[in-house]
Amino acid sequence: MTQDSISPEALRELVPNTIFAEHIHHFDEIDSTNSAAMLAAQSGAAEGSVFIAERQTEGRGRGGNIWHSEAGALMLSVVLRPRVAANNILILSLATGLAASAAVEQVSGIVPDLRWPNDILLGEKKLGGILCELNIDAGNVRHAVIGIGVNVNQEKFPEGISEIATSLRQETGKAWPRVELIAALLHALHKEYQLLQAAPAHAMQSCIHRFEERSSYARGKRVKVAEGGSFEGVTVGLDERGFLRVKTAEGERLVISGGVRPA
Ligand code: BTN
Repeated sequence: MTQDSISPEALRELVPNTIFAEHIHHFDEIDSTNSAAMLAAQSGAAEGSVFIAERQTEGRGRGGNIWHSEAGALMLSVVLRPRVAANNILILSLATGLAASAAVEQVSGIVPDLRWPNDILLGEKKLGGILCELNIDAGNVRHAVIGIGVNVNQEKFPEGISEIATSLRQETGKAWPRVELIAALLHALHKEYQLLQAAPAHAMQSCIHRFEERSSYARGKRVKVAEGGSFEGVTVGLDERGFLRVKTAEGERLVISGGVRPA
């Protein structure tokens, strides 16, 4: 595998004037950047602190899943202190998906699909995912950690994962500079986050609209949903907080956090 290096100093130079420029932490190996960021946030780490790893020994995905975390991937977590109420916080994940997909497009020219709420797809395979973790007090978010994993330069995946995952390298046959991808991602995330902090209502509307435009799963997709058992239906857009609306034979249902797959 061609290994491109990520130097925190070089990255800092690429993200001036963003909340992410001043506190970039880079690890060759760590258990999980999300765990490190959650601990640091608890101890008062500055908003915008970034934790990047080359390898994770206990990378975590949604729903308690393991996140396969080999060298060559982009794996990072950021600490945020959003002013958004806890019950509107899904928007942060959706905004991150938009930022990640914009960054992939900007750097590689490839336009990923977004599967509600947190999957970054190429075709039906996972190019990446987002794990948002919160510390909440009385309905307010004390801090949020957003972890992002993007499969960039892995040449192959082990059995069991190769069927469901792909990388930019596998799709294009060449390696991509992760530092540029991270810089593009942090710029895009900075922009989304500033809008969310400055004008939450407007930002939520804009984000939901753009997510619906960008995701083949948002409307008219027949899906199987795992939430409170399992049910099937056709997606009919997102509601005002970003939850997925699914039309079923028994009426419309709102998906709050369940897994969504093609039916
Ligand atoms: C998912 O699709 O289930 C979410 C995957 C999120 C993986 C990233 S990699 C960086 C950060 N650290 C973790 O332990 N998980 C997230």
